[in-house]
Amino acid sequence: MTRIAVDPARPLGTLDRNVFGGFVEHLGRCVYGGLYDEGSALSDAQGFRKDVLGLLRELRLGVLRWPGGNFVSNYHWADGIGPKDARPRRPDLAWGGEESNRFGTDEFLAYCAELGTDPYICLNMGTGTLEEALAWVEYCNGAGDTAWAGRRGDNGHAAPYGVRYWGLGNEMYGDWQVGALSAEEYVRTATRWARAIKMLDPNAVLVSCGLTGWSDWDRVVIDGMASLVELHSVHIYTGSDDYWTNVLQPHQAERAIRGARALIERAAYIQKIATPPRIAYDEWNVWFRNHDDGALEERYTFADALAVGTYLNIFVRNCDWVRMANLAQMVNAIAPIVTTPETAVLQPIYYPFLLHARAALDVAVDAYVVGPVVDPLPGDHRSRWPHRVADLGPFNLVDAAATADADRDRLALTLVNRDPDHEETVEIVLRDLAFDGAVAIATVTAEEAGQARDLPDVEGVRLQEGAETPRGGTCVLTLPPKSFTLVEARTTATR
Ligand code: AHR
Repeated sequence: MTRIAVDPARPLGTLDRNVFGGFVEHLGRCVYGGLYDEGSALSDAQGFRKDVLGLLRELRLGVLRWPGGNFVSNYHWADGIGPKDARPRRPDLAWGGEESNRFGTDEFLAYCAELGTDPYICLNMGTGTLEEALAWVEYCNGAGDTAWAGRRGDNGHAAPYGVRYWGLGNEMYGDWQVGALSAEEYVRTATRWARAIKMLDPNAVLVSCGLTGWSDWDRVVIDGMASLVELHSVHIYTGSDDYWTNVLQPHQAERAIRGARALIERAAYIQKIATPPRIAYDEWNVWFRNHDDGALEERYTFADALAVGTYLNIFVRNCDWVRMANLAQMVNAIAPIVTTPETAVLQPIYYPFLLHARAALDVAVDAYVVGPVVDPLPGDHRSRWPHRVADLGPFNLVDAAATADADRDRLALTLVNRDPDHEETVEIVLRDLAFDGAVAIATVTAEEAGQARDLPDVEGVRLQEGAETPRGGTCVLTLPPKSFTLVEARTTATR
């Protein structure tokens, strides 16, 4: 039995909707043949696949990052504007193959408008120049009578787009990155870029390029950039075919957040920075299969969905520091949505994201879990990724996060029961509040054997929606083994 004490009078932070962010890269079939498919009967006049758009809309993404990823470090944005047939084809150095440039800045920004999501553009710090980066910002946001703003008008968009989020390069530390830099080189270049971009657009929200959050690279970059940027990025992927490694490895995000926060607070204190940057977890996901074929068409299982639900719980619990997080990626490449020429189907990892994004309220609140724990790790650490988490345990068998609205009359809880074999009884106890009427429950579990699948190699899930009748401030639920559950309640204050 697990007991969860929820106290909305103990807020953990205001939740930024950008924590439910996405990422789409020119990689494999993510853009071409994924969200964009000219000539498909399933696409609209702009070439956007309507089925994919519909499924992405359901996720209510706060922000969408583009165009990479590794791809961006050899991407010249001006190749991707103007009449499509006149756009040059270029070699893609990151993933191989060729880039047609038929989906470019105007298409991406039109896509974000269709989704109702804020765009986040990552700049090319590999082969790109500062002049080119400034031209990109001017093309998107320039409101004056200048040449690049004029080009935007010529291309059919007279009004500035107002793109706020700009990334200062992608993973510039890695030898897989075109034009990789040392941390010191990065700071020198990114400092010049940040100052110039702010001169052009003081409203730009800049993201410095981080690694794990606690690495020496992060330390040097945070020390050098903390006074110049609003966000510092972290990327971590996890995953394993060992069940326990897979479902617990996302706790590595807690180390990343603590590590980055400590470095940022240190820099802010020493440098007297009044508003230090927060964290953008701008690539995260489970990813351990299909990593060498360049298309990254990972097939997810329900264990992966539990990991994704846990990641999101961690971002919610740490939302005072994590102001943005971007699931990498959204379509076909390590993605919750898979397309064929005829249809678009969902992988298990779609569901925890859907339920989280659907239900999350204004403020993350304290949810204190007492119950069975997992410690030590039942499985050997066996992962393509180095991130060991055993030292962070013991871990609650049921991982929980809670949000409330500002008036404390609504509450949402997201619960991950990681026990693969047994159901777990959960008693939710409210402090100074009572449940007001029945509680809505949505539970996702792995499909039952023999259930029909939309695509033979894509695992299905079972989503069950129901209600529970609580008594006073206590609600008792039974979580099925290996399940993700959303609890939505109305509440009234008792004092
Ligand atoms: O999301 C796939 C790749 O992972 C991205 O291009 C890169 O930034 C990271 O290494």
